Amino acid sequence: MSRIVFIVLAAAFVVIAATVGRYWMTSGGDGGHSQSAGVQIGGPFTLTDHTGKRVSEKDFAGKYMLMYFGYTYCPDVCPTSLSVMAEALDQLSPEELAKVVPVFVTVDPERDTPEVMASYVPHFHSSMIGLTGSMDEVKAAARAYKAFYAKVNADDPDGNYTMDHSSITYLMGPDGLYVTHFNHGTEADKMAARLKELL
Ligand code: NI
Repeated sequence: MSRIVFIVLAAAFVVIAATVGRYWMTSGGDGGHSQSAGVQIGGPFTLTDHTGKRVSEKDFAGKYMLMYFGYTYCPDVCPTSLSVMAEALDQLSPEELAKVVPVFVTVDPERDTPEVMASYVPHFHSSMIGLTGSMDEVKAAARAYKAFYAKVNADDPDGNYTMDHSSITYLMGPDGLYVTHFNHGTEADKMAARLKELL
């Protein structure tokens, strides 16, 4: 499957999941917090940040998370998305910026150690947190967020594999619940304007 097809299919799935999730949440009758009903995006995770500290979703409680799943060896898609995220953040006021944490979760924990993440995330934004973990921890986090990934050329003798992955930026609320998402190709100005409405 080509990368573009993969991204489009993954994006379509997230739109459906978000729509169904919202339908279930609003029909749940408890103010939109019926996380047990229907499809949901987000949930508990346990990962290691780029300073080596073990973290969970609880460490981000009270803040919005602008969250993206990708990998540092990504030749184009991830750097583009993370640059857009950073450009959008730079358009926020200091007060708005203080409410949101940009989070980059790797889908390639074999190569993306905390050290590799530490040398990567500051290039995009000073407040960006890089998260990695064991294969199982990353798999669980990606599954919770409906983020998709697959290793390509896994049997490359030089280990030069790539990862197909969905390219979606999730905005999670201070309560840890899904707020909205931005599809690949969203412009920084548009993301910033939407964040200013929501934060
Ligand atoms: Ni990528």
